[in-house]
Amino acid sequence: MPLVRLPDGGGHSILVMQCAENIYVAPDMDEEALSKVHNIPLRSEDIILCSYPKSGCHWLWEMIRMLLAKSTDVEHFEKEKCMMEFASHDVLSAVSSPRVLNTHFLFEQLPPPAQSGQHKLVFVYRNPKDVAVSFYNHHFKFPEYEYKGSFSDYLHLFYNGHLDFGSFFAYMRDWEAVISSNPQLPILILSYEDMQESPLENAQRMAHFLEVELDDALMKSIVEKCSFSNMQERKGKEWTTLYGEPVMYRKGKVGDWRNWFTVAQSDMFDAVCEKELAGSRFHFRYTL
Ligand code: A3P
Repeated sequence: MPLVRLPDGGGHSILVMQCAENIYVAPDMDEEALSKVHNIPLRSEDIILCSYPKSGCHWLWEMIRMLLAKSTDVEHFEKEKCMMEFASHDVLSAVSSPRVLNTHFLFEQLPPPAQSGQHKLVFVYRNPKDVAVSFYNHHFKFPEYEYKGSFSDYLHLFYNGHLDFGSFFAYMRDWEAVISSNPQLPILILSYEDMQESPLENAQRMAHFLEVELDDALMKSIVEKCSFSNMQERKGKEWTTLYGEPVMYRKGKVGDWRNWFTVAQSDMFDAVCEKELAGSRFHFRYTL
């Protein structure tokens, strides 16, 4: 698959790998790992966590693992070992059950048993202004993208979906269509902001969906162990800049976008959102 440079709004460009027309992934992804997703052999107890990048996948992945294990003491390893399009077949097969597989791929790219309702799916989404800021930091800080543009110029890439895993808006439209036309599918929908506002209540919703019973004390310990500060401390060294700064556990806030967007950029973003997601059932919360 070719590496391509996609221009931002100001003369810089981002390096990504092109899988098909308008479909990109990170430049360092493994082609074999990417092409096998549809055929990954699933185990009956696999849970699949689905999200657009930067929407809270690391957080929920860790929490779901603890809920399933009924313990805060789970094996320490990177979420990417269970990422369907990133991990090799051998790596995925070596993970013991219950596996919390995770992906940024679209529903139609999942293995057929996951599409036919044989696996529980957890879908998490986040308000797109905070996603854009988080993704900008990701692209700017990881050297493989070779991206050095400003946030303002980066928005051009975000609007056009010229990023790994494509357009946020297309991703949300696609999942919304899947959810509305397949009401029988076992999909739990969570938002990053609701998780931030009421982590305990939402962890309980997850436990109920996963059919695990936990006492209140353990539930509280899991929520606490997965708080941003605890996860940053435990796992912040996993993906860092060349200078050791955490990228996957950066700020963990709702509303950091206010530190990045000008009023005009925010208005423009709202207009794009309105147009791209007209009539959507997803309600984004930009502040708590
Ligand atoms: P920020 O860059 O805004 O800080 P993903 O895991 O899908 O890649 O999402 C990454 C975003 O989730 C980052 O957002 C990261 O800081 C935030 N995050 C990671 N762990 C978190 C936690 N335990 N609680 C809240 N946010 C968390």
